[in-house]
Amino acid sequence: MTRGSQPQAGLNWPLMENNILRQDLDAVIDYLRQDDPILTHASNVRAFESEWSRWVGVKYSVFMNSGSSANLLTLAAITELQGGGEVIVPPLTWVSDIASVLHCGFTPVFADIDRRTLGMDTDEILRKLTSTTRAVFLTHILGYNALSQRLLDELAARRVPLIEDVCESHGAIFAGRRLGSFGLVSNFSFYYAHHLSTIEGGMVCTNDEDIYETVRMLRSHGMVRELSSQARKEEYWRAHPDLNPDFIFAYPAWNVRSTEINAVIGRSQLPRLDETVQRRTRNLLLFLEHLDPAVYQTDFATEGSSNYAFTLILRQPDEALFRTIMASLREHGVEFRRGTSGGGNQLRQPYLRRLLGDEYKNYPRTDHVHFYGCYIGNYPTLKRDKILRLCDLLNGLARGGARHAA
Ligand SMILES: Cc1ncc(COP(=O)(O)O)c(C=O)c1O
Repeated sequence: MTRGSQPQAGLNWPLMENNILRQDLDAVIDYLRQDDPILTHASNVRAFESEWSRWVGVKYSVFMNSGSSANLLTLAAITELQGGGEVIVPPLTWVSDIASVLHCGFTPVFADIDRRTLGMDTDEILRKLTSTTRAVFLTHILGYNALSQRLLDELAARRVPLIEDVCESHGAIFAGRRLGSFGLVSNFSFYYAHHLSTIEGGMVCTNDEDIYETVRMLRSHGMVRELSSQARKEEYWRAHPDLNPDFIFAYPAWNVRSTEINAVIGRSQLPRLDETVQRRTRNLLLFLEHLDPAVYQTDFATEGSSNYAFTLILRQPDEALFRTIMASLREHGVEFRRGTSGGGNQLRQPYLRRLLGDEYKNYPRTDHVHFYGCYIGNYPTLKRDKILRLCDLLNGLARGGARHAA
């Protein structure tokens, strides 16, 4: 009997562990002990923004209530500053990446993924560029870098802005720089499952002053008083002498601000983020090294990756084996999410079927992940032995599945 065919009772493997530790809660309690602490957006939010900018390697960051809000405000800023058109997006991503494109009046144009990065394939993106492409909105899936030098060079040559969604990939690196520092704009999420959590939270990062100032206003009702530049504020005051300077609404916008409490939690975690990224990376490499490469995809683009999840994808389509795997993971208390990010092929979702009908059929690599892929949690406290037990379980199932199929 192989080790893998022995029962792996009670692996007890939740999708994620809380990143917010006792020390982060204590930081909040210390903050609240002050007399009359400010709770709404104030100096801790500003400090978190500048610390995050330094960490990512950008000039400006704007903290808000979620990664989805970061997606929305980014696309809203692009519409306001550059007008409408097409935006190239992946079918494998989170719903808000596509919802933001639709809500801001852009036409989404889809490009299939590269199976090694799970992000959009460079050739596919280049094939879909037209004279009306307003931006390429790329998602770095589950910690894998989706950039290539060729893509960056081509987009720069054609002056097509790049937007990076780094919500699932904090700390991943390409060409010696952190992801999120390449695009005109980049987005991060600090939701529970991600590398750093502020309960709920998101960040828009950029080196572009116009984008930065516009996103600051969009975060707060479109109000001019949110501008950081005094000169820009005064321009509005001069142009609108009939308005109270406290209430000039430059854009029809939203309130997606966060609070001091969320910023205190984020600031408390940031100093240990690099170390937790390294631990998660070691875990992923161990997992991929011990999976059976004849059955599972193990050749992901791991260089510079930063994963909070183990990607488990069958090499070949095999309905029966994938059903066996899912049943066994459930039986052994291993939580997973089928289809990986956002549940797989977004084009199969009702909101896009209504708009685009059968378009979902044209993305075979995304569909493969949709049907034969899932992710399992990867967090810093996972022990080597437990990861090896999971690999044994999965490899054993594959051998059993192969026998069964034969
Ligand atoms: C790629 C991606 N973009 C955006 C989001 C949205 O972030 P949030 O959950 O903070 O709204 C997520 C969600 O987790 C995501 O995975």
